[in-house]
Amino acid sequence: MENVINFIKENFNTYLDELKDYLKIPSISTLDSHKDDVNKCAEFAVKKLKEAGLTRVELFQTKRHPIVYGEWLGAFGKPTLLIYGHYDVQPVDPLELWNNPPFEPVIQDGKIWARGANDNKGQHFVHIKSVEAYLKTMGSLPLNVKFILEGEEEIGSESLYDFIKQNKELLKCNAVLISDTGMYGKGIPTITYGLRGILYTEIEVVGPKADLHSGTFGGAVANPINELAKIISKLHDKNGKVTIPNFYKDVLKLKPEEKENFRKLKFSDKEFAKQLGVKELQGEKGYSTLERLWVRPTLDCNGIVGGFTEKGAKTILPSKAIAKVSMRLVPNQDPRNIAKDFVKYVKSLAPKGVSVEVRVLHYGYPIVVPLKSKAIEAAARAVSKAFGKDTVFIREGGSIPIVVEFMKQLKAPVVLMGLGLDTDNIHSPNEHFHIENFEKGILSSAYFIDEFSKS
Ligand code: BES
Ligand code: MN
Repeated sequence: MENVINFIKENFNTYLDELKDYLKIPSISTLDSHKDDVNKCAEFAVKKLKEAGLTRVELFQTKRHPIVYGEWLGAFGKPTLLIYGHYDVQPVDPLELWNNPPFEPVIQDGKIWARGANDNKGQHFVHIKSVEAYLKTMGSLPLNVKFILEGEEEIGSESLYDFIKQNKELLKCNAVLISDTGMYGKGIPTITYGLRGILYTEIEVVGPKADLHSGTFGGAVANPINELAKIISKLHDKNGKVTIPNFYKDVLKLKPEEKENFRKLKFSDKEFAKQLGVKELQGEKGYSTLERLWVRPTLDCNGIVGGFTEKGAKTILPSKAIAKVSMRLVPNQDPRNIAKDFVKYVKSLAPKGVSVEVRVLHYGYPIVVPLKSKAIEAAARAVSKAFGKDTVFIREGGSIPIVVEFMKQLKAPVVLMGLGLDTDNIHSPNEHFHIENFEKGILSSAYFIDEFSKS
């Protein structure tokens, strides 16, 4: 074990260089123009898994982006750990707000800056390096390891859903380890035990068959943008509650002991507001900020398109308008039921003068993982060792829909060992990852392998 830890510390600068090469590949899964880059990135991951010393590494083609699999199964009779990550990244727009080009990683102020540095290349790369450190120093691992890296996480993981269903034997394991979440604060070792689900939709409001002169026609026909805005404004009431019928019907109430644990985390609304550049926080009445973020469902408009949006003025009454609307869901809400109620409700809000179409783009279930499992306990000890502090347990507001599928199909506990910080700008310009978290992440992973193999 000591050899492994020393080896990691000695080779850390090489790991940074390798991560930089990984980050140079613009693997944006949602843009067809980057399809070749996504492929190239999968090939890069294959190469890294091979270099790490895994005995079987394979690239599986799918309907969209490849899935990369790797394994080392030389620890007979020992538990098997499945490590998941995603090598795809979010788009980079607005490009002009980046201080450095998003795919030309730089190290500055103790951070590595690039799209994907945190979400998720930097975070899952730590596990590749810890496994490699074992294999290069000891020639073996104290448990069996499998890797599954996908290229569609940021667009809903469709191919991986099918892959898991069809490859249960291949992916069979005793625990799933994922670093794709956050830490409660800088230097605070964190295990996440809950994530929100998601329901992503698009509302399209269509009026006249073409754009109209707003002087000649304005006042006599419904304006799709006006009507869309009215619909959006009716999705919340004055207390910040979502107005979709039955929306809260299945929401689990927070247990008093969990509420108490949230309180112990001493969250500061004031500091949070300052960090975000807002004067005041806002949300559902009657709940604390951590409750609003982690255990209450929400609805947000993510984008809105319609009419004339160039510089200058143009007097039209647009023929259509579209809004992207997504909901974050919590146990025990079912995205499919919410979707039905949402479609019905939105349609009921529109006047006859326009037609409204609601499309569901993707959805994922919320999760809470039981804290009492050998894997979680081993993980808590591991991160605590690496960061030199007591581990905190949190829930988070983001979503990783495939987690539920791992639990359901493989019947294995999932460990969410997050290494990112809220301030790392994931999905935003100037994404970065703290070098400290990258290094301690590799150590955490190495300690976890040791701890879990003994448990
Ligand atoms: N790493 C995030 C999920 C995340 C972010 C968890 C912050 C906890 C804290 C992941 O890559 C992500 O962005 N997921 C998407 C889900 C999706 C597109 C289906 C999300 O949450 O929007
Ligand atoms: Mn993401």
